[in-house]
Amino acid sequence: MQYNPHMSAPPDLLTLVQHAVARRDPLARHDPATTVYRLVHGAGDGLPGVAVDRYADALVVTTHTPRLPDGLLPALVAAAQPQAIYLKRRPPESARLTEADIAALAPAEPAWGEAVPELTGRENGLAYRIRPGAGLHAGLFLDMREVRARVRDWAAGRTVLNTFAYTCAFGVAASAGGATRVLNIDLSRSTLAWGQDNYIANGLTPDPYDFVYGDVFDWLGRLARQSRTIAQRAQTFDLLILDPPSFARSRGQIFRAAQDYGRLVTLAAPVLAPGGLLLACCNLAQLSLDAFRRQVMVGLTAAGRTGRIIATHHEPTVDFPVAPGEHPYLKVLALEV
Ligand SMILES: C[S@@+](CC[C@H](N)C(=O)[O-])C[C@H]1O[C@@H](n2cnc3c(N)ncnc32)[C@H](O)[C@@H]1O
Repeated sequence: MQYNPHMSAPPDLLTLVQHAVARRDPLARHDPATTVYRLVHGAGDGLPGVAVDRYADALVVTTHTPRLPDGLLPALVAAAQPQAIYLKRRPPESARLTEADIAALAPAEPAWGEAVPELTGRENGLAYRIRPGAGLHAGLFLDMREVRARVRDWAAGRTVLNTFAYTCAFGVAASAGGATRVLNIDLSRSTLAWGQDNYIANGLTPDPYDFVYGDVFDWLGRLARQSRTIAQRAQTFDLLILDPPSFARSRGQIFRAAQDYGRLVTLAAPVLAPGGLLLACCNLAQLSLDAFRRQVMVGLTAAGRTGRIIATHHEPTVDFPVAPGEHPYLKVLALEV
């Protein structure tokens, strides 16, 4: 990805980016509690293969192709006036990446502007530590904004299990909403430490025991066994969040959301307290909402449970516009189980 600082933006591209910026006015101008949102969403904004996330003064451009559209960076500088622009190239989902691969795909230094190694982004008044140059992701998946707001509402007085926690953004939202306990599990120690920083950024005191490093597939089995052997409901939760990657490796086994989501639900169901809320999330565009719903229901039935869907969410329409002829890619089902 080459950037020539003397290049100017072609007029058509500049117009597209200006339109994209104007579309986000409800967030940018009228919502001071939110400084992070998607600024350009691929084909939905007329720029297939390109996503631009605004994290306060830093922009993060993610591309699915090796080349950036000519003149994109000057257009972003002109239309959005960032302090820095970082670039990330999306690897194939199945790739095993070394540190060197990640450094090549997502350089730590900005492609334009002054480095912003870390900043605090705000979403609905909550603070999240953002590290624009810290790898393939900057610390917060912006398509979950509305879901995090719901989790904040639902969490009051509940115990919460946040699986595939990443930087624990759901954990922050649930804790801010008054959860009595949130257990975050992830396979990355560094993102769990980042999660603790996110708690601190919101004046929450993280208990290190609630940030569990490990494989979710193992831990669900372990918690389920404990819930059977320990007489109390010590290891069941009132709200269970499942947000796996579309593709994951787990002790030699491969998890593919398209085929295996139901199996994950079956494994998770024993850990959900009777009458509890299951939040099942999937961002695999190729899986339809119908097929996803079926997998979740079949997974519950296999565990001897039944669920009633009380809410369905997809990505926010204001900053994640759906291209003509396409469907939303994000599927989130909230079920009373
Ligand atoms: C899509 S992100 C989850 C996003 C997160 N729920 C949020 O709201 O920010 C996927 C996360 O799953 C973690 N992960 C992948 N496979 C895992 C496994 N087998 N056990 C635990 N965590 C895993 C990754 O480390 C990554 O942080």
